[in-house]
Amino acid sequence: MRTWRLDDHDGRTARQTLVLAARGDRLPQCVYWGPPLPPEADLATLAAAHAIDVTGGMLDENPDLSLCPEASRSFPGQPGLILRDAGGTPILPRFHYHSDKQDGEALTLGYADPDHGLTLTFHFAPDPATRIIRARTTLRADSPIHLHWLAAPVLPAPQHSDEMIDVSGRWIGEFALNRTPWSPGIRYRENRTGRTGHEHFPGLLIPCTGATNTQGEAYGFHYGWSGGHRMIAEELPDGRRQIQFGHATGKELRPATRFESAELHLTYSGYGLNGCAVAFQRHVRDRVVTWPDAARPRPVHYNCWEAVYFDHDLPLLRDIATRAADLGAERFVLDDGWFGQRDDDTRSLSDWTVDPRKYPDGLDPLIEHVHGLGMTFGIWFEPEMVNPDSDLHRAHPDWALGAHDQTLGRQQKALNMALPEVRDFLFERMAEILGNHAIDYVKWDHNRVLPMPDADQTRGSYALIDRLRAAFPAVEIESCASGGGRIDFGILGRTQRIWLSDSNDALERLRIQHDAALFLPLAVTGSHVGPRRCHTSGRILDIRLRAWVAAQRHMGFEMDPRELTEHEAAVLRNVTAWWKDNRDWMTRADIHRLDASDPAVIAEQQQARDGSRFVVFAGKAATSTQIAPRPLRLTSLEPGATYRVALCDADALPALSRGTPLLKDGPVDLPGAWLMHHGLVLPWDFPETMAVIEGRRL
Ligand code: GLA
Repeated sequence: MRTWRLDDHDGRTARQTLVLAARGDRLPQCVYWGPPLPPEADLATLAAAHAIDVTGGMLDENPDLSLCPEASRSFPGQPGLILRDAGGTPILPRFHYHSDKQDGEALTLGYADPDHGLTLTFHFAPDPATRIIRARTTLRADSPIHLHWLAAPVLPAPQHSDEMIDVSGRWIGEFALNRTPWSPGIRYRENRTGRTGHEHFPGLLIPCTGATNTQGEAYGFHYGWSGGHRMIAEELPDGRRQIQFGHATGKELRPATRFESAELHLTYSGYGLNGCAVAFQRHVRDRVVTWPDAARPRPVHYNCWEAVYFDHDLPLLRDIATRAADLGAERFVLDDGWFGQRDDDTRSLSDWTVDPRKYPDGLDPLIEHVHGLGMTFGIWFEPEMVNPDSDLHRAHPDWALGAHDQTLGRQQKALNMALPEVRDFLFERMAEILGNHAIDYVKWDHNRVLPMPDADQTRGSYALIDRLRAAFPAVEIESCASGGGRIDFGILGRTQRIWLSDSNDALERLRIQHDAALFLPLAVTGSHVGPRRCHTSGRILDIRLRAWVAAQRHMGFEMDPRELTEHEAAVLRNVTAWWKDNRDWMTRADIHRLDASDPAVIAEQQQARDGSRFVVFAGKAATSTQIAPRPLRLTSLEPGATYRVALCDADALPALSRGTPLLKDGPVDLPGAWLMHHGLVLPWDFPETMAVIEGRRL
């Protein structure tokens, strides 16, 4: 028996231990993943204790649920690897131990199949600070082979769990959580659209029975790849459960000698879904994202899209910029419409030269005006796309990906990013704009799915972003794809912000942000105050709700500021000032989702890592069933410590709040145990409002 253990040990404490064990030379399997085991635990005994019984109707020995289950060893579920040789004949590998290396907490396990000239390597890297274990699988072949499926290291799922939570969604409805009960067979998700997609965020949470946001055990998985993933959550006939993640199948279109999964991010939590959420949030912010200047406060954005769309007029944009700066904006982002002959979305994508009709003296007059107001300047590109009605498509129709008679999406095709000449062209055009102007930000869009899945396309996009970042290291990038269509840790390794949704409807955004916080921190999550009457829902929402919902994440504005009444402008200025006063600690804070007992309430607690302060955002998304607000329980406080809690904006409550709950009168000192077990008693308020409560440990 060979055994290995991984602990996310930071010298003092560990939160999780993962134990791998292999029978003889066979592939290892995970025999334990959960709270830390004592250092002296005998791993061989654990491995033996893990084995399940055999009865009638079973094989004489249960096939291992290994890191890459092998079809050739009677494994009763989906295999971890599906291959063919160059001639198309299926290969059924059988791997044997080759090497292992433990370097600090990082572990590399090498396995070989000499008969087929294959080696399979598993990499694990636990991160003690973020509590994430990164895992990936590499396959090498002596001669080129066809890959259909390669799973990142395969792990078991707990059997004391009733359901799994994965993520779907749609345009203006991202991060919809699906709860699926476990049952024999497979929950299978496969994204064949070629981009991460609104519908397919590659994450999975497995709550153990009874777990909620704040309590119980849970397991979290995220596959960091932007080209579409496949997930298998399978219950085997013997009751064991396996989780597989990898690239969508059949996306390696050419035979090759080396294939690699993306990184699978894993975490175990002993305190509910929040333990997974906080681990993912910290990992994204502190490990995945590469910040040009990590100390720079996140600037308040102004984006002109919903104010002017394609109708760019320099004097008007100047006026808008002046008003945006007055409200507190610090970065002005010029959206779609500045290039080619882009008067609507039917033409000019890929013609990345400034439109002289709209900008006769180029972009500098606008940029200088924006700089004069103390803001920096950002600009929109959609590099991977081309309209058939464009100079580039007329010159190089063969640069488009897919058939010439393919169905268009938003009147556009994708460019073939695997072609070096396409990447060179895009690099030169973008470098021309970025190199000749003082621009510190690119909003990078991707507004259609691919005509067919192709991993080379994703690698080509990554290569272009990497090259631009190397050439312009101070420029930050926002990943947008009709809102949240390209959000994953692969793209976040190359960008600093995601445009979570095209919905600036604060009610919808409240819900989307809440669910996205299972994986994403404030630092990367853009959120804008939209027009009074929302352009994607038609809803009219009060400025307070709109402002506070944006203040929950990386704040910005996207309406035409000329529509704001004096009252609305004053509220927005105040909330923006509040956000600037708090952003330093909030950017680094953990977002804990609260278990509100009122289904109308969507609430979260953003808490500094040292626990010294927090802010609770309790959004009342609908009308409550009961007449008085139910107490709202907080989480992750010190039971014995006292906290001073204060309600922001108490003077904005409606006259229908007639009573005197203590919080209306000013700050209150309460023990952590009270806040977590009794819960905060909030004043009555209208639906579609947000209560904001600040807390400090005394
Ligand atoms: C996409 C984005 C929007 C905007 C438009 C511009 O839809 O999601 O925010 O940038 O493109 O065409």
